[in-house]
Amino acid sequence: VIAPLRYEDGVLLVLDQTRLPAEEVWLRCATPAEVADAIARLAVRGAPAIGVAAAYGLALADAADFEAAGRLLAAARPTAVNLRWAVNQVLAAGPDAALEAARGIEQRERAATRRIAEHGATLFGSQERVLTHCNTGALATTGSGTALGVIEAAWRNGAVAQVWVGETRPLNQGSRLTAWELERVGIPFKVVTDSSAGLLMSRAVVDRVIVGADRIAANGDVANKIGTYPLAVLAHRHGIPFIVAAPTSTIDPDTPTGADIPIEERDPAEVTPHGHAAANYAFDITPAELVTAIVTEDGVIDANAGKGPDPLA
Ligand code: MRU
Repeated sequence: VIAPLRYEDGVLLVLDQTRLPAEEVWLRCATPAEVADAIARLAVRGAPAIGVAAAYGLALADAADFEAAGRLLAAARPTAVNLRWAVNQVLAAGPDAALEAARGIEQRERAATRRIAEHGATLFGSQERVLTHCNTGALATTGSGTALGVIEAAWRNGAVAQVWVGETRPLNQGSRLTAWELERVGIPFKVVTDSSAGLLMSRAVVDRVIVGADRIAANGDVANKIGTYPLAVLAHRHGIPFIVAAPTSTIDPDTPTGADIPIEERDPAEVTPHGHAAANYAFDITPAELVTAIVTEDGVIDANAGKGPDPLA
């Protein structure tokens, strides 16, 4: 398993995901501000991984700056609730127990991914062609992954023939990171442009869609990487199961619905290299009614019992 983070001798080492797969560059973060910056610019990314990074980032704070460092780290990105969840736990532990708390969060999140993979793999039939979006593997989680961990476990069971990897514009977490992870393991895949999903589903070469999540509201609405909602609409149209895999740290009981989830808007320059006006939304909301099932470490939740396609069918 690739580890995107390493805490060593009072420094958090971050594998710079903006440079992958071309080169493996490790950033040395010695202060909470450096960790917050690494999170903001997506050197470390993926909901569980940014929670773990922020937890270690807070453990780097001086006792006098502890609360302020917590605020800085929690504000580094707005959508994934794992960030706030992890920071709040380390704040509650206090400066003297912060490192121990961060290590506990990392272990908990790793263990969760193993359980998610086991539960999720039970949903698969035989030799499925699976479409996924963004990157939800080890890089995004510090463990075996959420959606990608499920895919790997199902593949090891002979239940996956091929993965369709949406390139995930604008920063290409699919074509850069997911493709890199799948190739290392040897799982057959093809990268497709995000806009290919409709054609693939209309040709009946997608048996299942599985994605991760950055926040799941109390009503089951799911925030995930921009482009996830259109996949859910298409899957519904074509009667294809649409599965969300996420640890319980991604579920936010304090956010009633998807409309209450803040959507990150990033620098327009990421979208338009020529300086034209642009809007760069990083996430979208998939309404609960389009989600067939949510897989967490605690098991499979049938998101719309009796309403959508049966996840176990
Ligand atoms: O902007 P990113 O790359 O941090 O977005 C990540 C995603 O949207 C993932 O799908 C999500 O965090 C689930 S990862 C286990």
